[in-house]
Amino acid sequence: MRVFSGVQPTGNIHLGNYLGALKQFVELQEEGDCIYCIVDMHAITLPQDAKQLRESILDVAALYMAVGIDPKRSIVFVQSEVSGHAELGWILACNSYTGELSRMTQFKQKSKERESAPTGLFVYPVLMAADILLYDTDVVPVGNDQKQHIELTRDIALRINNTYGETFVVPDGRFLKTGARVMALDDPTSKMSKSAENAHSRISLTDDPAKIKKSIMKATTDSEGSVRFDAAEKPGVSNLLSIYSAMSGKSIPELEKYYEGSGYGAFKKDLVDVVVEGLRPIQERFAEIRGSEQLIRDLKDGAERANAIAEPVLKRVKERFGLGL
Ligand code: TYM
Repeated sequence: MRVFSGVQPTGNIHLGNYLGALKQFVELQEEGDCIYCIVDMHAITLPQDAKQLRESILDVAALYMAVGIDPKRSIVFVQSEVSGHAELGWILACNSYTGELSRMTQFKQKSKERESAPTGLFVYPVLMAADILLYDTDVVPVGNDQKQHIELTRDIALRINNTYGETFVVPDGRFLKTGARVMALDDPTSKMSKSAENAHSRISLTDDPAKIKKSIMKATTDSEGSVRFDAAEKPGVSNLLSIYSAMSGKSIPELEKYYEGSGYGAFKKDLVDVVVEGLRPIQERFAEIRGSEQLIRDLKDGAERANAIAEPVLKRVKERFGLGL
């Protein structure tokens, strides 16, 4: 089983990315042949500071490894280091339609505040499809917000297979029950995101204990005062329960029972401890890996290994389309 997924280096990885995606990345190493990418070309679909982008690429790479991705067992690499992504992206762009891309909710959201959106933002899902299809991927572990992009990837692959003959493996998304959609702490009706202005809306994997405490203690709840899961009526508390459950391994009913009769204060305090203690080993490993020479060596080695898989796939695609000599 070939597994592929990616994270944008547009800011620090947060609990949503971790619980929705990275935790799966680590687990899947036991089951498949995994390729994890830092998608820097996706990051430039919106303006980035060059220096900051380079730092973020290394931050994400080091965090991948700090959470437990083994760069020897899996392939960890930076997207722009393998030129096949851009090449296949173009071929797929010629086989996708402006109508289907206009329906992508992430594009609609991100382009909403702009008079004119960059073309790259519009074709973003096509490049994502190229990332996945370039490696004959079977499974794509992601959070719920990527569902529509995975569907589009499948549609494009099937369309090309039907028109040009068997060319691509048609991939499946993999979503977790708990953690697939972690909500913002200050507004549990929108998802936790790297780009939200309020830093207390999220917990980044590198946040110190004081920041974690402040963000959780400030998190939006409700006036009922009972710790129970009800996503519709109690989105704030339900989100905190999901985070607690995913970080501690305790089930939500178990937590509801334990906190029966106690208020939000005690519950939140315990959650602070669970998150701080859960992130501590990750942060320790991150500090070691981030400044090491080995990190760059691992990424270069990863790009070579990725390229070795991508090249024959790209060759096959070009043949099907009659491209080149
Ligand atoms: P990105 O960088 O926004 O997020 C990385 C991963 O984290 C998941 N995620 C969440 N999961 C739960 N709750 C949240 N609040 C939350 N926020 C983010 C995302 O679903 C994702 O799995 N388009 C992708 C990057 C990408 C990609 C790919 C992924 C590019 N090419 C190929 C898979 C395969 C993105 O923007 O992820």
